[in-house]
Amino acid sequence: MEQSNPQGKLLIGADDCNNSNNESFNNVLSERLSRRDMMKMSAGLIGATMFGSFMSGCNDEATPLASSAAAAALLAFTPVAKNLNDVVTVADGYTAKVLYRLGDPIKVGISDYANDGTNTGDFESRSGDCHDGMTYFGLKSNNSGYDHNNSTNGLLCINHEYINQTYLHTVAEVAAINNASRVASQVDKEMAAHGVAVIQVSNSSTGFALDKTSKYNRRVTATTPMELRGAASGSAYTKTLYSTDGRATRGTVNNCANGYTPWGTYLTCEENWNGYFTADVRTGKELVAFNRYGLKTSSRYGWESVYPQWKATVSAADATADYRNVANTFGYNVEIDPFNPTSTPIKRTAMGRFAHEGAWPAKATAGKPVVFYMGDDSRGEYIYKYVSTQVWNPADANGGLATGSKYLDNGTLYVAKFNANGTGIWLKLDISEPAIATYATYAFADVSDVAIHTRIAADARGATKMDRPEWGGVHPTTGEVYMTLTNNSDRAKTGKPGLDEANPRYYADGSSKGNVNGHIIRWKESEPSATTFVWDIYLFGAQSAVDAGGDNAYYQANVNISGLTADNDFSSADGLWFSEATSGLMWIQTDDGAYTDTTNCMMLAALPGSVNDGATTAIKSLAVPTNVNADQTVTTRVGAKPTATKLKRFLVGPVECEITGIAETPDGKTIFVNVQHPGEDGTTTALTSNWPDGGTARPRSSTIVITKNDGGIVGS
Ligand code: FEO
Ligand code: CA
Ligand code: CA
Ligand code: CA
Repeated sequence: MEQSNPQGKLLIGADDCNNSNNESFNNVLSERLSRRDMMKMSAGLIGATMFGSFMSGCNDEATPLASSAAAAALLAFTPVAKNLNDVVTVADGYTAKVLYRLGDPIKVGISDYANDGTNTGDFESRSGDCHDGMTYFGLKSNNSGYDHNNSTNGLLCINHEYINQTYLHTVAEVAAINNASRVASQVDKEMAAHGVAVIQVSNSSTGFALDKTSKYNRRVTATTPMELRGAASGSAYTKTLYSTDGRATRGTVNNCANGYTPWGTYLTCEENWNGYFTADVRTGKELVAFNRYGLKTSSRYGWESVYPQWKATVSAADATADYRNVANTFGYNVEIDPFNPTSTPIKRTAMGRFAHEGAWPAKATAGKPVVFYMGDDSRGEYIYKYVSTQVWNPADANGGLATGSKYLDNGTLYVAKFNANGTGIWLKLDISEPAIATYATYAFADVSDVAIHTRIAADARGATKMDRPEWGGVHPTTGEVYMTLTNNSDRAKTGKPGLDEANPRYYADGSSKGNVNGHIIRWKESEPSATTFVWDIYLFGAQSAVDAGGDNAYYQANVNISGLTADNDFSSADGLWFSEATSGLMWIQTDDGAYTDTTNCMMLAALPGSVNDGATTAIKSLAVPTNVNADQTVTTRVGAKPTATKLKRFLVGPVECEITGIAETPDGKTIFVNVQHPGEDGTTTALTSNWPDGGTARPRSSTIVITKNDGGIVGS
């Protein structure tokens, strides 16, 4: 999700925060001179039964999972057509059911959700809002601890990224919201509807269901106590009235995508956390830092009007007596042990502080470092990699948070530079690097300063400004890394980064300009801890046909560069995830606002090839008023165009939703998918979606369960 904050005012400057000078069009141009090498949910929804199937209108009655189904060829299903229906449409032969909706109770003794804004006081025992990244952890047969192979009984860790106030409160309450003086009970509900849920789910003849009696069921919210570990812990920058030694904080917010560790813990990643705080105008380094991280003088929800912990302002004699530093305790990856419901989550500051989309692990290899790839989702931000100092010992496979401290508190953080010639380099972010130690814009003091102000250190190293890095994934057989670049309305805008080979396209589509539909980049390393790579662009999002009146020949060559068809065209890839039960099935999920005149957001299945399997391609961008006033051509490497059997649309979601978050059982026969913010543009009195409950119900973000009716692998 990209957060807008129309009420907020940046301390200084515009609403994207990367004004560093690195990787401008001019220096990329000079580098190019040396290039040579290089349900059936098609259905009206039925009822509000908690695990109701949504299958009217088709014959895909749910069948029990067959255990003996052989894996058919992948992507054998018929593509789903684009549509604007207020349902989840899945490919023929598949069934989708709703598992877990906003407000659903996760504990016994909690009432059914009224879904009219009246539920209050018990949201710590209910599903939060805006379901996002998600991981399935199998349970051992004795219901204790991690079993990577259990496909019938497990824990789902689910992010609840943010809230839609419109549907969380009553009609009268929504009308009366005033960020300058919020009502405490409403703020309490909103804070409790954020964070993460851990829920136990078990399969039976009727499919997966939530077990409300489970001892593991738990909510982590915007008020849960957290430890800080790694370089930022105990620093002068993290001391607050709550934690005078700077080693703790309360809450996690805007938990977007996710990750998981080889030792059976969950990573939840703090994305647009800056919008939750009000800040004052500071001086010197603090002002540079606050602007670089987009802190503003007003907040998204006004929680600070009730609770001072959301006020990053100077109000007392020193930092241990107010919350001037509280924003420095957000922006991290947070590790949660789902198997230990009373454990305190830990913010792993060695993995850097930015708008963390997610953290995607390379395959763990004994004797090698543990590696995670990460994206910073804002316009013009960077791609990062964390490499642990300790090498992987398979004996740590069930070690919980103590093992996390071994691998995630000491390591090297790198940022990516994509060279024009198709090579790339991971630039180390360390105070010992001369470019960081002597950076004129910001005088780094020590390692904690670098850990907290990761973006500024990356500026100093000259990283490549990307078109909003979202999800990444590591191909299970090739080890190549894929990352979505969802879109960038700033690309080539006056005063913003120009084109480069890794971000080579701008154009107009209706009122949208820039890199409207986004692309997916990929790279190959000799091993995950390598400091160099080679890269190309796997896939460009685009509508398959030019809009009426457009120049189709130009469009197909320069916008629909990957040759998408009606069966697989998409816009703004966000989620990207490799099934582990198959050898290379990749899922792509969209969070789009450009092609939504034609279709709701969707999920596609892909079988990608490998880096440099395509052709060197010249891409011509035409002048777009308010972005650039001149045509430009960039020549870059584009992956082989996907054939009809290599990329297919599998699912289309309901009205105004985003499809985001995916997990699978280890056998690949069940996937869990999140439908976020259906009907997000509606109002309490004019709903635009009634999904999933139907009738006149308010829409609810939900987790759905998808199975193949013949019991086979999902995606076959
Ligand atoms: Fe929360 Fe970058 O999507
Ligand atoms: Ca969204
Ligand atoms: Ca996302
Ligand atoms: Ca269009």
